[in-house]
Amino acid sequence: MKVLVTGVAGFIGSHLAEGLLKLGWEVKGIDSFTDYYSRKIKEDNLRNLKGNKGFSFQEGDLLELNLKKDLEEIDYLFHLAAQPGVRKSWGKNFEHYIRNNITLTQKLLEEAKEFPLKKFILASSSSVYGESPLPMREDNVLRPISPYGVTKLASENLGGLYYKSYKLPVTILRYFTVYGLRQRPDMAFHRFTQALLNDEEITIYGDGNQTRDFTYISDAVEATIKAAQSKIVGEIINIGGGAQVTVNETLKILEEITKKKARIKYIEKQKGDVLHTFADISKAKRLLNYQPKVKLREDLEKEVAWLATAKAQK
Ligand code: NAD
Ligand code: UGA
Repeated sequence: MKVLVTGVAGFIGSHLAEGLLKLGWEVKGIDSFTDYYSRKIKEDNLRNLKGNKGFSFQEGDLLELNLKKDLEEIDYLFHLAAQPGVRKSWGKNFEHYIRNNITLTQKLLEEAKEFPLKKFILASSSSVYGESPLPMREDNVLRPISPYGVTKLASENLGGLYYKSYKLPVTILRYFTVYGLRQRPDMAFHRFTQALLNDEEITIYGDGNQTRDFTYISDAVEATIKAAQSKIVGEIINIGGGAQVTVNETLKILEEITKKKARIKYIEKQKGDVLHTFADISKAKRLLNYQPKVKLREDLEKEVAWLATAKAQK
């Protein structure tokens, strides 16, 4: 099988490409190294991939590249490139969210519809739900409360249109707060761990009693590959970790793992942050035979060990 992974130098894209190579699939990855976080981190994300003979990489902006030849050759398209980050999506930044989440998705769907792809996997987000009743079910009313969530919902809607109007085999995955090795540096566990290791202050938004359904990266990758391999098309599927934990509880676990006492500053809740997320994953279980492993402490230990090694190598 030949596949294209967009956003391959990112957190989830780099892990997904590794998972696909393990299956013996041929993977081409594209990434433009947007400056949302450092290029060095993204180059490190690609390090394991680059030595693999089944892997090729092209640096470039997907909105500017001619993808015809790639689309002719591939069986599957995994579209992960995006402008992520809930809290930064206000104000002038919004133009990056429109460009990389809406305009880019429309361009890829438009081009892909000309080719007989087996599947177009579209990465979406729990942030499309907003303050929704829990557990969040795929058929809940969607009222995102962040500009980021609005753009991810628009990209989902575009995916649905190309499935209905052109029979493009789109499957949409709503990932819930993913963590693990190579987690983005703007995300909570990465920030908390780095602050603990460097004896710096940790900022918690709100009172820390907000909850997240945290999803370990290997579960997210497994679900994504299963979604590609399954016969399911035209569906929207939650990919959650299977447990709901408060931010304060996760910080306690991180203190125990790092054997450090956190210095915490509580500030106001951030605009755009939903208070609680919790995925109903019965659809993923039924359609994809998805079963997240749910071992938060053990998986956090791996993320901490990765960040501690990175610190020691500096
Ligand atoms: P990431 O920022 O680490 O990866 C995204 C990559 O896309 C980056 O490397 C960036 O350079 C690239 N990119 C963006 N615009 C591009 C363009 N125009 N051309 C080429 N490359 C471009 O983010 P991530 O956390 O790995 O997220 C991957 C996907 O999963 C995104 O669609 C995101 O919205 C979604 N998602 C992530 C999470 C999470 O917890 N990390 C949760 C829900 C949904
Ligand atoms: C994450 C990703 O960043 C989004 O790209 C993704 O789309 C989203 O998950 C999703 O599931 O849809 P978020 O849940 O905000 O967004 O993930 P974190 O940045 O890890 O934050 C988790 C919680 O910790 C939030 O409640 C946030 O307010 C809190 N937090 C984060 C802090 O209190 N302090 C920090 O320094 C960072």
